[in-house]
Amino acid sequence: MSSNAAGVLHRRWLSVAPMLNRTDRHFRYLVRLISRRTWLYTEMVTAQALLHGNPSRLLSHAGVEAPLAVQLAGSDPAALARAVIVAMEFGFDEINLNVGCPSPQVSAGRMGARLMAEPQLVGECVAAMCAVSNLPVTVKTRLGIDEYDDFEFLCRFVETVAAAGCRTFIIHARKAWLKGLDPKRNRTVPPLDYACVRALKAAYPRLEFILNGGLQDLAMAREAIASGLDGAMIGRAAYARPWCLAAADRIFYGEHVAMPSLAEVLDAYLVHIGREHAAGTPLGPMLRHIPGLFTGLSGARALRARIGAQAGSGSLDSLREALAPVLNAQAA
Ligand SMILES: Cc1cc2nc3c(=O)[nH]c(=O)nc-3n(C[C@H](O)[C@H](O)[C@H](O)COP(=O)(O)O)c2cc1C
Repeated sequence: MSSNAAGVLHRRWLSVAPMLNRTDRHFRYLVRLISRRTWLYTEMVTAQALLHGNPSRLLSHAGVEAPLAVQLAGSDPAALARAVIVAMEFGFDEINLNVGCPSPQVSAGRMGARLMAEPQLVGECVAAMCAVSNLPVTVKTRLGIDEYDDFEFLCRFVETVAAAGCRTFIIHARKAWLKGLDPKRNRTVPPLDYACVRALKAAYPRLEFILNGGLQDLAMAREAIASGLDGAMIGRAAYARPWCLAAADRIFYGEHVAMPSLAEVLDAYLVHIGREHAAGTPLGPMLRHIPGLFTGLSGARALRARIGAQAGSGSLDSLREALAPVLNAQAA
């Protein structure tokens, strides 16, 4: 587990969800400027992509992103074990297995949520991953899939996977319909059931259960923890409004150091962009994470338009100029 400067282990009270095409290393860097303690997750990476592709391109990240978990997808225990060995070279704090993605392509590869129907296999994957790593191996899953959606089924799933070595379950608190709903609607249509996650915690008090799904802000995350759960994971709201995490270190980790202002965060992110751009990273993938910072600010729409106009220009000076209203107003 990751430690802070004093070497104290800390828990996953608050985390930002893994999101494909969202939580890349630039967004994670931006979040880290806002909260030093919130746990971060990579986008899902398949074991096959790691073993047959370019691990550096998929897993490289800045040391400051810690505590950081890598999320893997797959169902071949041996391949997942090899993928864990590759991932460990990059310095992660947790290995997470995706058992929640309902996308047809992921299902077709025998990965993601459809594995809920094969708890034994998930257990074999977890055991193989634990055998090659001393990092915590965690599982992110749903309440059920298709006709496998009663509490007894969920309990059998948890027991089987826990027996294989997983102590921490991140539960997206709704089932997934693999037949008939696309991934986007699978994040909204099946109803949320937080009580079911609390019931899991009551049934297995020694395991950790982290609530995910529909949490809009830190107040909701705090309620989840107050209800006895071991942590809260925020996805879409954290991407849409990353500044909503600004009080996380104080609320969840009792830190009382002064947090940077929005202007300071933006300024530091622009320094990151400058460094990366000089090393050949195009601006677009880095700029796209900025507009969420302006949600709720007056003039947000104009700022977004200015950023859009800068994406193709390639000039950091004109980008700074475009963002001057935030950089100067906040610093004043
Ligand atoms: C664009 C997008 C990409 C996602 N990619 C992943 C992923 O790679 N791995 C994963 O476990 N969940 C993924 N999810 C699901 C989120 O991690 C989370 O479980 C879901 O959005 C519910 O949480 P929320 O209501 O806080 O957003 C993704 C969600 C979105 C919106």
